[in-house]
Amino acid sequence: MSTSLPHGGRLITRWEPNRSVTDLKHEVELDGVSLSDLELIGIGAYSPLTGFLNREDYLSVVHHMRLADGLPWSIPITLPVSREKADSLTLGEEVKLVKDGTVYGVLKLEEKYVPDKTVEAEHVYRTADFAHPGVKKLFDRPDVYLAGPITLVNRPEKSFAGYHLDPSATREEFKRRGWKTVVGFQTRNPVHRAHEYIQKTALETVDGLFLNPLVGETKSDDIPADVRMESYEVLLDKYYPADRVFLAVFPAAMRYAGPREAVFHALVRKNYGCTHFIVGRDHAGVGNYYGTYDAQKIFSEFEAGELGINTLFFEHSFYCKKCGNMGTAKTCPHDKEDHVALSGTKVREMLRNGERPPATFSRPEVADVLIKGMQKTPVTTG
Ligand code: ADX
Repeated sequence: MSTSLPHGGRLITRWEPNRSVTDLKHEVELDGVSLSDLELIGIGAYSPLTGFLNREDYLSVVHHMRLADGLPWSIPITLPVSREKADSLTLGEEVKLVKDGTVYGVLKLEEKYVPDKTVEAEHVYRTADFAHPGVKKLFDRPDVYLAGPITLVNRPEKSFAGYHLDPSATREEFKRRGWKTVVGFQTRNPVHRAHEYIQKTALETVDGLFLNPLVGETKSDDIPADVRMESYEVLLDKYYPADRVFLAVFPAAMRYAGPREAVFHALVRKNYGCTHFIVGRDHAGVGNYYGTYDAQKIFSEFEAGELGINTLFFEHSFYCKKCGNMGTAKTCPHDKEDHVALSGTKVREMLRNGERPPATFSRPEVADVLIKGMQKTPVTTG
């Protein structure tokens, strides 16, 4: 596949900076998740969505991983508000979408409905356990979902100058670089050697790598996005060919929905112009809620070609001391004892203590940036 049409065939744009909002009576206060969703709908990253899901689409996504018209979509994009707020709004009216005193968008209110969050959790997260951060977030948010098309009138502040590109702009950039095939890489972590290995293995067979770290809300013990961004810059500078890699941020919130989120991540990267997408071990997972390869297996629930993006699956990767290089169980015959394996918790602890993980786990330049960043970050248990 050498072209990538947006999901649904057309890139949605609902960005209208000149739209006046002074005539609108009511407003809804957004949380961090709905603000990032509003922006991502507005710039077409969530094409074909034009707004927050109505009940029919919502139920279809929750139960069947499809919009009501049958198009694959795996994560419900919803706008939760309190019952009092919902009661104060009239169907058909246009409502300002506000955060901390700034109007970011307008919702044409078409529907209000009360979801069954336990059912949503069981289908989307495969658990209703409150200890799961995505499930906790789902239940912490208010009880009524508002639905309807949106207009984006203001953009949230850009934290990473030069790295915020809309899907129309990344598509242009890939074209300018002459890339016909582009592999997307989602991450909420620093790029360690295992990430680098699977990215570069993919890069051997496609024209370009789109490193697209998620920088929206994450749980409190994930490494903050500003520290990660600095670590990506250093890594790309030292170890990647500049003309084969492009770095831009993905301003979405992390849901930790594992398999469902892997499908969502792939569809969104298709909208950014990727033809391929990497799914490794426990993609978007948390704790022990998902099997190591569940986020790969879920793709077989769709017809071949139906998602319109090629998935590249990788097994758990590691450095093998006997091989003297990176590999997986597919390419390395040695025992686990020969493999460099460090848990995320262990690595964070080392970094906080100012200790570099071994160079077989993380590039020293990356470790140094993380050490510096972690030492100024308050310790949380998250
Ligand atoms: S994620 O929540 O964004 O998926 P992370 O940033 O750790 O977390 O992973 C980014 C991508 O790299 C995902 O596709 C994940 O499956 C993959 N990945 C992470 N670590 C490994 C590993 N050791 N071996 C193979 N794939 C991995």
